Amino acid sequence: MTIELLQTHKLLDTCEAGLAERYTVHKLHEASDREALLNEIGPRIRAIAGGNVDGALMGRLPKLEIIANFGVGYDSIDTKAARERNIRVTNTPGVLDDAVAEIAMALMIGLSRQLPQADRFTREGRWEQGNYPFTTELRGKTVGILGLGRIGKEIAARAQAMKMRIVYHGRNRQPTEPHVYYDNLEEMARDSDWLVIVAPGGPETNGIVSRQVLEALGPEGRLVNVARGSLVDEQAMIELLETGGIGGAGLDVFADEPRVPERLRKLDNVVLTPHYASATRTTRDAMGALVLKNLKAHFNGDPLPSAVV
Ligand code: DGY
Repeated sequence: MTIELLQTHKLLDTCEAGLAERYTVHKLHEASDREALLNEIGPRIRAIAGGNVDGALMGRLPKLEIIANFGVGYDSIDTKAARERNIRVTNTPGVLDDAVAEIAMALMIGLSRQLPQADRFTREGRWEQGNYPFTTELRGKTVGILGLGRIGKEIAARAQAMKMRIVYHGRNRQPTEPHVYYDNLEEMARDSDWLVIVAPGGPETNGIVSRQVLEALGPEGRLVNVARGSLVDEQAMIELLETGGIGGAGLDVFADEPRVPERLRKLDNVVLTPHYASATRTTRDAMGALVLKNLKAHFNGDPLPSAVV
């Protein structure tokens, strides 16, 4: 008898093929009647692949042993409920650091050099009427990194190569890091030209980039978010972007994605991308492979390559 697995959202084709080879897969996201499917197969499910797993869903799966999240961020999984039930949770760290750091840099360069506007200017033939106005460069500016984990460190390395000064904020100072540590986020924002958010989502970080932090960043300051929309007070951010309270924002993530507020979409001092920082074929393949590896290790009784619970 093969192990029955519940898939909660669409995954990469290679990952889905790997799952189908080893497990009997039921696709919750494709079910026309979710309740009926859960009633029928819920009692037999031993594994989940994907995210968006709350306590209520876990409650429908009495034999659930493991949730293999496709992604490094696991804020869509109720880890407390999982811990209480002894359900293992895994994620996909490490393999997406470069891809996400590249998009953080792309958003910074896109904003500072006004790439979308310069592209439109060139396409629309406006160059013939005169040169594009001056933009600003990253060199010599201070970037404040919120969350100097694996991805944060890759961003720091790239920012350093762009001749920027690096400061950071997180739960703890990292003694081996040469960069200046701020234990107060608002103070770091005051000292920064750029605030780059790369800390995990979840209850501990919800709304930590508050109106006060954004005001401390100031009219010349710019925000980049490649983490989760939930970290930012999005209403305050929009107001400050509209009124010049902050200079600009490069955003890959949003509070209620895939919905993006119309007021944000109308602004010219933002660069917006569709939560695609890790979305390269190579990176997503590696994420899928790690999902499969974690599941295999669990059912073989081996240590899990990347357990969070
Ligand atoms: C992650 O891995 O958490 C990325 O945000 C993609 O979801």
